[in-house]
Amino acid sequence: MYYPTLRMRRLRRNENLRRMIRENRLSVDDLIYPLFVVPGRNIKEEVPSMPGVFRVSIDELVKEVEEVAALEIPAVILFGIPEKKDEAASGAYDEEGIIQKALRELKKNVPDVILITDVCLCEYTSHGHCGIIKDGEVNNDITLEILAQTAVSHVDAGADMVAPSDMMDGRVAAIRSSLDENGYKDIPIMAYSAKYASAFYGPFREAAESTPQFGDRRGYQMDPPNVLEALREVELDIEEGADIVMVKPALAFMDVIRQVKDEFGYPTAAYNVSGEYSMVKAAALKGWIDEKKIVREILIGLKRAGADLILTYHAKDAARWLKEGWI
Ligand code: PBG
Repeated sequence: MYYPTLRMRRLRRNENLRRMIRENRLSVDDLIYPLFVVPGRNIKEEVPSMPGVFRVSIDELVKEVEEVAALEIPAVILFGIPEKKDEAASGAYDEEGIIQKALRELKKNVPDVILITDVCLCEYTSHGHCGIIKDGEVNNDITLEILAQTAVSHVDAGADMVAPSDMMDGRVAAIRSSLDENGYKDIPIMAYSAKYASAFYGPFREAAESTPQFGDRRGYQMDPPNVLEALREVELDIEEGADIVMVKPALAFMDVIRQVKDEFGYPTAAYNVSGEYSMVKAAALKGWIDEKKIVREILIGLKRAGADLILTYHAKDAARWLKEGWI
């Protein structure tokens, strides 16, 4: 009969032993909470495909961010749904636009929470594409000017960090130089560097009313089978001045997160996107999975893959669970 001398189970026998040899940890410091802001007052409407996630008016947004602050989540990322959309995405850079107004109100009421803004045009264009259309196509270079103008207007209104998610070529450099020219040398850029054309964004597009009215985003977002290309995207964004790089979505792209982290060693964010959240919520509501345990595995899995920061709709729940000694 054979018996092992080295027994891996020795260090798994109780929770204190497991705590002692735990290799990765999740902290509230790692979390960024996404929020959707809509025009009006007293509005808090649940996104049908995202139970527990709401589209809120600015007054309600302030309450949400106060809750985020109380939970010690360091940062939020804001998405705006404008009153009206047009071909020029004029709501994106309007001084009186939804995000600009929200930023001013948040800075007044919750000054310490880091306010990140998503810089993209898809929520503001009538056609739902992430850039300006010319001759039937999203025109890269015209879009750059609008993105840079949008980023500056966000910082004018109080944004602490900007996060371009459009996937135009050269947007990080364009935004960096415009920020610098406007005296915003110290404002960091978190670039959605390896952003894939993914079906996992479906529920977000319902929330942000940003589904493309024709075609799809495959002409600018990345093709899911590619990973070397993701490394080139990240390299370019770093050269152009990105301070934090992001991989998005998260769960089907954990190999990409790992390679980006190993190759560049930059602060790396993973976006645990809407569809990933909705799948967990739907199964949990049916009683098919244990939500708290599943979320724990997902978030610690992303840390293990190399993410330093996780943008997630689970952030508030995770922060509460962490206080209870969850991970
Ligand atoms: C804007 C943007 C999208 C998401 C973040 N920024 C949607 C898209 O590219 O279609 C998706 C976030 C999520 O699914 O949670 N371009």
